[in-house]
Amino acid sequence: MSDTTNNNMIYLQPTPVRIWHWLNALGIVTLCITGAQIRYPEFINIFGSYKAAIRLHNTAGIVVSLSFSLWFFYYTMIAGTMAQLYFPKKEDLQTGILRQAFYYFFNYFRGKPSPHHPTPDNKFNPMQKSAYLAIMFVLVPLVSLTGIFLMNIAPLREVLIMLGGLKILVGMHFLLACSLCAFLFTHIYLATLGHTPFAHFVPMWTGWEKIEDHGSHEPLHDLPKPAEHAKG
Ligand code: HEM
Repeated sequence: MSDTTNNNMIYLQPTPVRIWHWLNALGIVTLCITGAQIRYPEFINIFGSYKAAIRLHNTAGIVVSLSFSLWFFYYTMIAGTMAQLYFPKKEDLQTGILRQAFYYFFNYFRGKPSPHHPTPDNKFNPMQKSAYLAIMFVLVPLVSLTGIFLMNIAPLREVLIMLGGLKILVGMHFLLACSLCAFLFTHIYLATLGHTPFAHFVPMWTGWEKIEDHGSHEPLHDLPKPAEHAKG
C-alpha cells in the first residue's frame, strides 16, 4: 500500500487542485449568469441593477484569473506534472480518443467498464486530456484576456483599436464565453459517467476515488509510487 492507495481508494486530486477547481467553477458559473444579465438586461434581471451585475461579473472574473494562476503554478512549479497529465500522447490521438468516445456512446450503456483506469500520473482519459488542454490553455486564457481588455478600455485604447475595435472584442468575449458555457454542460454530464453517478465528484471534494472493481484493474501494489508532492 502506498501514499496514494488505501483500501481500494486512490488519491487523485491534491488539495491545491481541488481549491482551484471549485473556486474556478463558482467563478465561471457566476460569470455565465451575470454575463447573461449584462448581455440581455431587458430579459434577465437576477442581481438587481445592471451596475450590480457588472460589479459581480468583474469580481468573478478576477477570482477565475487568480485561481487559474494557482492551477498553473501548482502543476508547473510544484507537481511538475502539467505536460504529463494534460498533453495527449500520439497513441491518445490516434486511437485513444476514438476508443473513449466509443465507450461514452455505446459501451457505457451496455454496462462495460471504461477503457481508462486513472492513476495519479495518468488521471485523464484521452478525451479529457484533449478537452482540458483546449479549455485550460486556449479558452480560459482568451476569455480572461478579452475580459481584462474590456475592464480597461480607456488605458488600453490604442491596443483595442489595433485589435479591430470594441465591437470585435465584445463579440470575441461573448463567443468564447458561450463555448465555455457549452463545455460546462458537457463536462458535468461526462463527469456523471463513472461507475456510479458521483464516483468522479467525490475525489474532486475529498481527493480520493474508489477503484472500480471489474477484474481488469491493475492490482493495487502495481500502481505507480506517488511523487512526494502528490498528496496535497
Ligand atoms: C459546477 C461546475 C463544475 C462541476 C460540477 C465540475 C465537476 C468536475 C469533476 C467531477 C471533475 C473530476 C472528474 C473529471 O476529471 O472529469 C472535474 C475535473 C476538472 N474540471 Fe470541472 N466541474 C465544474 C466546472 C468546471 C469549469 C468551469 C472548468 C473549466 C473552465 C472545469 C475544468 C475541469 C478540469 C480542467 C478538471 C481536471 C482537473 C485536474 O484534475 O487537474 N470544471 N470537474
